[in-house]
Amino acid sequence: MALIKDILQTMEYGPSPESNEHVIAWLGQHEGGFGHFIDGKFTDPSAGASFEVTSPANGAKLARVARGTADDVDRAVTAATRAFKSWSKLAGHERARHLYALARHIQKRERFLAVLESMDNGKPIRESRDIDIPLVARHFYHHAGWAELIESELPGYQPVGVCGQVIPWNFPLLMLAWKIAPALAAGNTVVLKPAEQTPLTALAFAEICREAGLPDGVVNIVTGEGETGAALVGHPGVAKVAFTGSTEVGRIIRRTTAGSGKKLSLELGGKSPFIVFEDADLDSAVEGLVDAIWFNQGEVCCAGSRLLVQEGIAEKCYAKLRARMATLRVGDPLDKSTDIGAVVSTEQLERIGALVAKGRQEGAEVFQPSIPMPAKGCFFPPTLMTGVEPASTVATVEIFGPVLVAMTFRTPDEAVALANNTRFGLAASIWSENINRSLDLAARVKAGVVWINATNLFDAAAGFGGYRESGFGREGGLEGLYEYLVPGHGKPAKSAKTGKPQLNAAPSPTAIAASAEPIDRTAKLYIGGKQARPDSGYSYAVTNPSGKTVGLAGLGNRKDIRNAVEAAAKAGSWGAATGHNRAQILYYIAENLSARAAEFEARLRAMTGASAKDAAEEVATTIRRAFFYAGFADKYDGAVHATKSRHVTLAMNEPFGIMGIVCPDETPLLGFVSLLMPALAVGNRVVAVPSARYPLAATDFYQLLDTSDVPAGVVSIVTGETASLAKTLAEHDEVAALWDFGSTTDAATIEAASAGNLKPVWIGGSRDWTSSDGQGREFLRRATQVKNIWVPYGE
Ligand code: NAI
Ligand code: MG
Repeated sequence: MALIKDILQTMEYGPSPESNEHVIAWLGQHEGGFGHFIDGKFTDPSAGASFEVTSPANGAKLARVARGTADDVDRAVTAATRAFKSWSKLAGHERARHLYALARHIQKRERFLAVLESMDNGKPIRESRDIDIPLVARHFYHHAGWAELIESELPGYQPVGVCGQVIPWNFPLLMLAWKIAPALAAGNTVVLKPAEQTPLTALAFAEICREAGLPDGVVNIVTGEGETGAALVGHPGVAKVAFTGSTEVGRIIRRTTAGSGKKLSLELGGKSPFIVFEDADLDSAVEGLVDAIWFNQGEVCCAGSRLLVQEGIAEKCYAKLRARMATLRVGDPLDKSTDIGAVVSTEQLERIGALVAKGRQEGAEVFQPSIPMPAKGCFFPPTLMTGVEPASTVATVEIFGPVLVAMTFRTPDEAVALANNTRFGLAASIWSENINRSLDLAARVKAGVVWINATNLFDAAAGFGGYRESGFGREGGLEGLYEYLVPGHGKPAKSAKTGKPQLNAAPSPTAIAASAEPIDRTAKLYIGGKQARPDSGYSYAVTNPSGKTVGLAGLGNRKDIRNAVEAAAKAGSWGAATGHNRAQILYYIAENLSARAAEFEARLRAMTGASAKDAAEEVATTIRRAFFYAGFADKYDGAVHATKSRHVTLAMNEPFGIMGIVCPDETPLLGFVSLLMPALAVGNRVVAVPSARYPLAATDFYQLLDTSDVPAGVVSIVTGETASLAKTLAEHDEVAALWDFGSTTDAATIEAASAGNLKPVWIGGSRDWTSSDGQGREFLRRATQVKNIWVPYGE
């Protein structure tokens, strides 16, 4: 028998399993299998094809679930469509009560859900019990509040319709909550497909919906694999698609929904840096690493999977880490003292193993502690790879397992460069006792979530989501709510009064050799603060509505767009300037425009055939709009979210960087300025493509830019065929966001082309630029991405 003294010495403790009796009994009741949950009822499980769900920890069969067909998806969407009619009309307060009831029922079943989640997914009960399920309840509570508040806080906003939601297996019920709670709060109805590996808590949730009295059809759950997901995403009755999963599938979804008009949010992979400075509290940082990469077996999209450690302390850090790794307990997910449970499936286990082997091949040094490992089941030991090259596979690819790769840096600048040396941009964790340095780095890393001296903190009140190829859109808080709403004027606006174009007769500019006309009559392109001749050497004739040529514009091409983006890349200081500085320049533009109003009026009249009155009105509105955004440049504030205690969670509105903007034909000066100004106000650099039909007001505009101290490269203007220029912008990897309000917009082509770097695309449609629909926060919100920075305080 072990003496107490020995026990204290080794700190070994015996198994402490959580009882799974209730879950086993529940699974027993469903021995015949689970059908889909459609219109408030479970379908007959014996009806069609089905597949088995097993526990990754021991291979035990847990249940049989239905494999959803296109027909099942269709029935679910039909039910959701029907339910939408009344659910969307329900008073916010009534919806709030339903969400609140769901939260209460979840809380009552917390223990049950935690055990079921751990059995299905393999995650340690300590995590499902203390993190996943409490956060699920928190999400429903938080969004019950939004249901109550939307009417007063977001006047005019409407629900989108039926939402098709596809979720992964790493946080099965939590991802369901992130998707369903905001959707319902905003008045939408839902068809959700859980991951094939882990559908059980979603089915338990379906029972909770019934128990809690949620109206039939508001939530529908269809189980199945990728094909079922694809059928849901592709269903024409779905108005909004929300996806969390691999970047690969995210890209497929971007392409297949292109041009469908569906609203889309994507929460994809990551390779998030965990940056440790010499002055960090090293013991805390090492403990942070345990939470960053060994939480949930490392199957976390925002896992701190790339350790960047300052050179001077690297060896010390690794030594502490190796010692800590040797104390991690890998094993039975239901054991309350397990740190690392089972990986979700044998496929995932093999994938992780193959990537680690690849790392070894590429020259990394691999450390795995000699700790007891279960004899069977999907278990992978905690792994540290050092001596990793920044360009190697393991440093660039998402491993999605308990594997940390480490690299060193010397200076803060080098840390930033390494941190941003990735296609992803989901999260970052920064460790330093120097607050100046930490916040400086937080501002400079390209990531949607930044934790200072902390990691993997989540809360329903804070937005979560990525930059770059980690996807777009946010989940949580007000930021996430917008994904499930459309502004009241969502329908195409009536055509504007002046310069009404014949949209069907959109021009296909015909090239005229530059030499064919005297050069001084040709409006050139404007690139990098200078007028530039188009690369093609060609111009095209701009004609007024009666067919008379009123001038020539440059016929820009792919090369001109590339040059403009290159010039923009050099003008990065615009984003770092203060709002006040930007405001001054925008005021200056507005003022200069006022001074030359008559000239612009004459141009509009000649070009669009507008009456004197209409032209004057367009110019006057344009001037007011420019002043409006100048006024906003230092006022589009972020927020401080109320999340954890002793934390400030700063929601910063950051510019995208380089934006592409394709402008409308309607009110060509006003349309151009209405899009350019908000993008500039919040700190973006812009490559603008003016209306092809009426480009000359925009090309006159660059004289204003010249005289208003706009730094070179901040605005470039490329005229030409809007459709092909828009496509080039969509394809360009350095263009971080794209607005297309062009009359020749081919949404299918543009959205599909944007799948390369997964930039958010706003297909604007037509709207009345002369009305209040043409300006406001909607534009500023679309010109920014929110970075949530978690800053702790106190000892
Ligand atoms: P996945 O992206 O294939 O699966 C996620 C969800 O998408 C599942 O519900 C799946 O059934 C569904 N799905 C698959 N193909 C689809 C399609 N064409 N259309 C619609 N839905 C589809 O991810 P998978 O294969 O399970 O894991 C592969 C890798 O992806 C992981 O090793 C990891 O690197 C990454 N991943 C990232 C996640 C994240 O949270 N960022 C979550 C899951 C996986
Ligand atoms: Mg897959």
